[in-house]
Amino acid sequence: MGIIKMTSLPRFISVANQKGGVGKTTTSVNVAADLAYLGFKTLLIDLDPQGNASSGLGLDRHSSATIYDVLIGQKEVPEAMQPTPVENLFVIPANPNLIGAEVELINAISREKKLKTALKKLPSDFKFVVFDCPPSLGLLTINAFTASHSLLIPTQCEYYALEGLGQLLNTYQIVKEDLNEGLEIEGVLLTMFDPRNKLTHEVVKELEQHFPDKLYAARIPRNVKLSESPSFGKPVLLYDPESKGCAAYLQLAKEIITRLGYFEEKIDDLIHRATHPKAAAVETKEAEEIATVVTDVVEEVRAPDAVPTETVIDETTSTEVVEAEQTNFVESSGEATQEKISTEQESLA
Ligand SMILES: Nc1ncnc2c1ncn2[C@@H]1O[C@H](COP(=O)(O)OP(=O)(O)OP(=O)(O)O)[C@@H](O)[C@H]1O
Ligand SMILES: [Mg+2]
Repeated sequence: MGIIKMTSLPRFISVANQKGGVGKTTTSVNVAADLAYLGFKTLLIDLDPQGNASSGLGLDRHSSATIYDVLIGQKEVPEAMQPTPVENLFVIPANPNLIGAEVELINAISREKKLKTALKKLPSDFKFVVFDCPPSLGLLTINAFTASHSLLIPTQCEYYALEGLGQLLNTYQIVKEDLNEGLEIEGVLLTMFDPRNKLTHEVVKELEQHFPDKLYAARIPRNVKLSESPSFGKPVLLYDPESKGCAAYLQLAKEIITRLGYFEEKIDDLIHRATHPKAAAVETKEAEEIATVVTDVVEEVRAPDAVPTETVIDETTSTEVVEAEQTNFVESSGEATQEKISTEQESLA
């Protein structure tokens, strides 16, 4: 199955909630890593002077260029980007200097648009930009909202969750009216979700009423692997891919991509490979063995003179060869070959 319908990319997403400790950074880092893993080149921009997203990916945020340098016009976006342990994922880090940016920009012309303007230099092969916003609704967050297509709002299932969201939604409306009329809500994400807590279900009901189409089906459980992974400088995908936290964030990434119309079957396969690495390794080995047998036999049949007289080709394998020949297996693309191998596997099973 190919692409069905598409929202144009790149897409710029602010992960925001002025409430502290709700999982903004955990979400930014892991969603950005998962989007990159699923094949969408992604830039994560740390907009929090605490620099947690930067340190959570093991980046040097003291001797390198940071988002502060970009905001005050001393560096361009491509110069400030750093590679990460995840292929396809780049980060512009932050450090405490960023506190100064709010003050230094206060009298600047178009101070709310500094980030948006800087991102005009984003290389064209990037598909997502994720902003990890600080726990405030100050100039840095306003810059992120002005540069974004949408807001992804992580929230915990607490009694005051909705009251806290009111203030965030006011800021969203103001930015939408004055600075960025296209700004949307990408989705609302339940973090540190605990279904055993009675209150959780009441909060979910209320959130469903307020954001009928926006609440993600993916819910992030409270999971110790998610809180451990930053101290190893890794997203959970590299730290413990078999954990529940990893599976939940991969489901979220899939939901984001699917809502934008970019679902492809290979995404399910990639998620399976990440979350079940042992099973995937066995499957790959089996597929490679089958591919080797098929290739050997195809070669032997094509050059019958080269087949040693004592070689016996069993019936099953011969049938495979004929099928492979009929479907131009040898000439087909890598992807088609993989499909063919899977079919072979099934028929052999
Ligand atoms: N699903 C989870 N399970 C367990 N621990 C989590 C989970 N999500 C986040 N945490 C932990 O909770 C703390 C706060 O998370 P995080 O830093 O992501 O929140 P934040 O909203 O970015 O905070 P701040 O407002 O300070 O920027 C961290 O110690 C993090 O490791
Ligand atoms: Mg944070």
